[in-house]
Amino acid sequence: MKICFAASECFPFVKTGGLGDVAGSLPKALAEEGCDIRVFVPLYSGIKTIDHNLNLIDEFQDIPVNIGDKTVNFNVWYGTLPESEVEVYFIDCPVYFHRETPYTNDNDEDERFILFQIAVIETLQRLEWSPDIIHCNDWQTALIPVFLKIKYKWDKLFENTSVLLSIHNIGYQGRFSSGSIYNSGLSYELYYPEGPFELDSSFCFLKAGILFSEIISTVSPTYAREIQTKQFGAGMEGVLETRKDDIYGVLNGIDTNIWNPKTDSYIPFRYTSRSLKKKIQCKQELLKGAELEFNENTPVIGIISRFAGQKGFDLLFPVIHEMMSLNFQLLILGSGEDKTENFFRELALAYPQKVNTYIGYNNKLAHFITAGSDMFLMPSKYEPCGLNQMYSLNYGTVPIVRKTGGLADTVKDYHEFNENGNGFSFKDDTPFALLSTIKRAVDIFGDKKTWKKIMLKGMNEDFSWKHSAKLYIDLYKKAQANHII
Ligand code: ADP
Ligand code: GLC
Repeated sequence: MKICFAASECFPFVKTGGLGDVAGSLPKALAEEGCDIRVFVPLYSGIKTIDHNLNLIDEFQDIPVNIGDKTVNFNVWYGTLPESEVEVYFIDCPVYFHRETPYTNDNDEDERFILFQIAVIETLQRLEWSPDIIHCNDWQTALIPVFLKIKYKWDKLFENTSVLLSIHNIGYQGRFSSGSIYNSGLSYELYYPEGPFELDSSFCFLKAGILFSEIISTVSPTYAREIQTKQFGAGMEGVLETRKDDIYGVLNGIDTNIWNPKTDSYIPFRYTSRSLKKKIQCKQELLKGAELEFNENTPVIGIISRFAGQKGFDLLFPVIHEMMSLNFQLLILGSGEDKTENFFRELALAYPQKVNTYIGYNNKLAHFITAGSDMFLMPSKYEPCGLNQMYSLNYGTVPIVRKTGGLADTVKDYHEFNENGNGFSFKDDTPFALLSTIKRAVDIFGDKKTWKKIMLKGMNEDFSWKHSAKLYIDLYKKAQANHII
């Protein structure tokens, strides 16, 4: 099966969150299952072509695309995903992609990703490569099925191409003013209240994608159910209702070559479930670096996160001082909303013996905290899948999570009636529920035998992509069977 995988980020070239990890690992797993897969991603200025051994394709230079009144040119570069033969095509358009960050609040944000999506299709034409499936991811690629079915309908190359659209986070929908339709070259005919392009008086890329794709998926079974409700649908539940028979949830996997305590080159001591003393040595080193005192009986709780409302850290605000009276240390790595950055900065100042805060993005430190912590905190309000809890489980770092989305599908609460739990979870979206769950975890940490059992439970689970890659192949077949002409 020939798969074109289009995404706005792809590790190790560019990553702001879990989508980058998925786009850098799922295609490799699909290739191992026999798919012929090619990945497409924008060439942001942060991607250094020399570092990644990328080459400009001579024949694919200065390809013109009309964006509204403008003609914008792009080039195509080529590389492979590390330790694989998966081909990656980079859409190089400096006017749009040479910005400080991959995503912006600039007023041409719509144009940037309209260009990307048209460029993917134009590149496929020049490659004369006819994919069976285009696997789109999030709003930045959600117009591809619309372009295929309207603007490029004439091209026989795509006659049998179907689209699977994966929603990684329904909170981000790509809503723009109606003028954006002109930029996309689509006709205003489909823009009318409640029409396929319109949502709350905006031109909504994600809505259009949901309506024009053969199959829609999201990144965990629980989130697939949640987004069809008013509480979690972020205004898209009505649109999803019209496609309810075509919506599936496939749990993300993790790249066990990258996130593996046995081989991780970012951590000072590598370990397995049979050499857990080395994990304690990681903890010692981690605390040394954070200038905190090591104590075997004091658990370290790690946090690694984008700071966005979704992640639920405001649950900590009202109970923080009560929480800090418990016996634990806290290591925080993250960046995002000012209020959360400031909260964690001030916490480190108020509790210098217990808390260390690193504001920023640091991949090496993310691995080190995952390995050196005893627990990992993810109190998300909603979480489509979440990768950090799976990385933590793989590293024997016990997750404490709110029971929602992919967190509910991967973390099973340990308690006296469920001794098979691999972590701790709470249902209520309240500070009290969070506080009492942390308390429960800290108490059980004192019972070394039980704690080890919980750690081993997680370490012995299989979070690799193998199973989910097979499920995606089933969905690709469903998309082909659903093919809309
Ligand atoms: P989301 O995509 O919503 O941010 P995920 O749990 O799916 O959440 O993925 C987050 C990814 O980003 C993980 O690989 C995590 O380690 C990484 N990450 C988040 N914040 C940072 C940071 N400040 N530094 C390094 N890595 C980070
Ligand atoms: C999104 C979600 C996260 C998910 C990731 C990869 O960023 O917030 O839960 O793990 O996409 O699918």
